[in-house]
Amino acid sequence: MAGASSYSGLVDKTFWMILGSSVIMLVGITVTMIYFIVKYRRSKHPHAKDIEGSATLETLWTVLPTVLVMVMFYYGWAGFKVMRDTPAGATPVTVQARMWSWSFKYENGKQTTELVVPVGRPVAVKLESADVIHSFFVPAFRLKEDCVPGRDNHAWFQAEREGTYDILCAEYCGDQHSTMLAKLVAVHPDTFDVWIEQGGGRPTGQKLLQLKGCVACHTSDGSKLVGPSFKGIYGHTVKVMTNGVEREVMVDDEYIRRSLREPNADIVVGYQPQMPALGNQLDEEDIQLIIDYIKRQ
Ligand code: CUA
Repeated sequence: MAGASSYSGLVDKTFWMILGSSVIMLVGITVTMIYFIVKYRRSKHPHAKDIEGSATLETLWTVLPTVLVMVMFYYGWAGFKVMRDTPAGATPVTVQARMWSWSFKYENGKQTTELVVPVGRPVAVKLESADVIHSFFVPAFRLKEDCVPGRDNHAWFQAEREGTYDILCAEYCGDQHSTMLAKLVAVHPDTFDVWIEQGGGRPTGQKLLQLKGCVACHTSDGSKLVGPSFKGIYGHTVKVMTNGVEREVMVDDEYIRRSLREPNADIVVGYQPQMPALGNQLDEEDIQLIIDYIKRQ
């Protein structure tokens, strides 16, 4: 069966090759061991005998495993090279990871929580994290690559079949690691070209809060989750802990901006410092849109 991505067949071949050699060795070693146990059992051979070395055997068990390991290395390296060399002209998408959600940013500014890609065209992904190490994992595509905070990592793939595939986080990243899921939707290239033009451009403040996973912890209706609600906070003072000292601050543009860039600078009394710094995933204009949205709550 053809794989879901252009290189999934290559990865599978390597996997089966290594699994196959391991099974052959396991069976071979086990059978030999049992044969020797029976043949040299104490009732037949009560006295152990000293044996001289054998140059033939020594050579054989040095050369054979070396060849086997080099074959494994060859397949592994060949597959790794294909997966690291992004083809020219690939469609660029930035994958943004954070505790505990994914979002995807296209070249024209379109942002989504589902990764929509064209079948038959290479897609170059830039991998970013706002907080801790996450791992972008698309099992059907045989693709797994880490999102490391403060470092640009990359990968690429080409979907070969239309369909919806699972995206998982493959690096333990805290309480909700197992819920850090998303979908990859591979569509006909013509469908993709139409889709990418729709709803492009910069998202609204409210949409940004959804895309960046903020709404998992902050509500707009006054209910308390992991973080304070946005409802009616703008223009009011809140009690915060700053470097272990309690003080009062006014919720204004500056306060919201700092809370996004350095979430642990001022922690509202009664809450835990759990928010990721979203600084590298929002530009000034995004932040202003979020401020304007919070103002209206
Ligand atoms: Cu992100 Cu596990």
